[in-house]
Amino acid sequence: MQTLTRTAAIAEQALAWRAQGLRVGFVPTMGFLHRGHTSLMELARPRCDKLVVSIFVNPLQFGVNEDLDRYPRDPEGDAAKCRAAGVDVLFVPDDFYPPDHSTRVRVEGLSEGLCGTSRPVFFEGITTVVARLFGVVQPTVTVFGEKDYQQLAIIRRMVRDLALPIEVLGGPLIRDDDGLALSSRNAYLSPAQRARALSLHRALFAMAAAEERDAAALIALGRSILDVDTFDYLEIRDAVTLAPLETVDRPARALVGCWIGGTRLIDNVAIERPWT
Ligand code: PAF
Repeated sequence: MQTLTRTAAIAEQALAWRAQGLRVGFVPTMGFLHRGHTSLMELARPRCDKLVVSIFVNPLQFGVNEDLDRYPRDPEGDAAKCRAAGVDVLFVPDDFYPPDHSTRVRVEGLSEGLCGTSRPVFFEGITTVVARLFGVVQPTVTVFGEKDYQQLAIIRRMVRDLALPIEVLGGPLIRDDDGLALSSRNAYLSPAQRARALSLHRALFAMAAAEERDAAALIALGRSILDVDTFDYLEIRDAVTLAPLETVDRPARALVGCWIGGTRLIDNVAIERPWT
């Protein structure tokens, strides 16, 4: 595995691969890698000739009072995990944005609501960094986790709208043995907070299992189970378009965002019923 830190170097490498007709797979990350990330690499690996993983804590997607400065980092552990996952190039840029970069990429509609309500700059920061990463890495196929379900929908829409010749795959959300959705931010939780964080997936699984089609009733059920400090959202959306649903009469997704202490957590589950 090669580690590249210069943006021009990976761009040159990617162009050479593409000129040889090779399929380039790409998993963008912000590091502090866990099994959720490596599962995305495992999905990409058999679908490409060369696999690139990026680690870049993107300042554009953090709000002023968010955790940019304390975002967890583990460069050596990350490199070992990437090597074990068969990554060809680990891209850890130290010069990613041109000093006077001024272009922003924004997917309207889908970037509003859910996480976009309390984090107004978040998705614009993500689509801007991912568009530039795509430009540099020139992937044939890319994998994003369903853990960030809204992000995945937004990236799919951006790729479609900008006619980028990239296949976008969604990787299933990975949970720890106790059910907590894997997230780099779980490292912030104390044992007591972690115990309360389990209420997220309990609420979502109860909603998914209930014999109920009225979204408001399902949300009330979920809220009665959630044990969090600051509630952000708990919603049921169409699984594909993310349109809000009043009645669960098609494949849907229950999504939650909330805070335990100073840690923001999100989770989601599929709501699948016999629809006829
Ligand atoms: O999901 C993430 O880790 C980030 O939002 C991403 C896609 C790497 C962009 O910075």
